[in-house]
Amino acid sequence: MNFSAFPCLCRIEGLIQGLRVDCVGRAKPGSFVGSRRCEVRGDHVAAFIMKVLSLGGSTSSESINRRFARYAASLISEADVTDLDLRTLEVPLYSVDLEERDGAPADAQRFLDMIRSHDAIVISLAEHNGSYTAAFKNLYDWVSRIEQKLWSGKPMLLLASSPGGRGGATVLEAAKATFPRMGADLRASFSLPSFYDNFDAETGIRDAALAQGLRDAVDALTAA
Ligand SMILES: Cc1cc2nc3c(=O)[nH]c(=O)nc-3n(C[C@H](O)[C@H](O)[C@H](O)COP(=O)(O)O)c2cc1C
Repeated sequence: MNFSAFPCLCRIEGLIQGLRVDCVGRAKPGSFVGSRRCEVRGDHVAAFIMKVLSLGGSTSSESINRRFARYAASLISEADVTDLDLRTLEVPLYSVDLEERDGAPADAQRFLDMIRSHDAIVISLAEHNGSYTAAFKNLYDWVSRIEQKLWSGKPMLLLASSPGGRGGATVLEAAKATFPRMGADLRASFSLPSFYDNFDAETGIRDAALAQGLRDAVDALTAA
């Protein structure tokens, strides 16, 4: 049977490589059903728990965007979420001269490896003067020198938030226009305005319409 051409019925498998696997019904290999990634295993399709990379486009220790991305990722049922703190990636300020002399820094490669080793990305961008934070843009520039399509075809939920009423709408639009060209499989985007008014650490988004908007965006990320 040509598994790549036909949706297949997965069957209950138990444990494969330490991951719990169960039946999700009909699915194309390589696609997602809920938070499950479907793969061909011998004569059938198995479903693996989705590995999600969650990050904020900020190096603030109190980053609201890192918190927001983590919250959005927590809404994916049964996902295995890696919460990336950009402060753990140290890259010098990009310059052509530095690149010619030393090549890309190890942590730029590490970031790319993390993208590649996850099934989906939830990223929330902080906005500084209508654009990316300098720290995120610098890392992004370095990684793009290793691999221009750095998002590696991964399904992405693109978010932004700020304390102000526009919720990082400008940086969100910039990323929506360029991330797909840089290899993102952009499934949905969502902006949360007035973060401190609208977000509660215990209960999540206070406003019902905004909460539903985020839920729809999360669902779009995991839709088959
Ligand atoms: C240099 C600087 C520029 C900023 N520019 C904007 C802006 O253009 N739009 C906006 O909504 N907020 C702006 N802010 C406020 C940020 O949205 C706020 O600091 C937010 O907490 C940043 O996200 P983070 O907590 O994830 O780092 C700016 C903050 C700084 C320090």
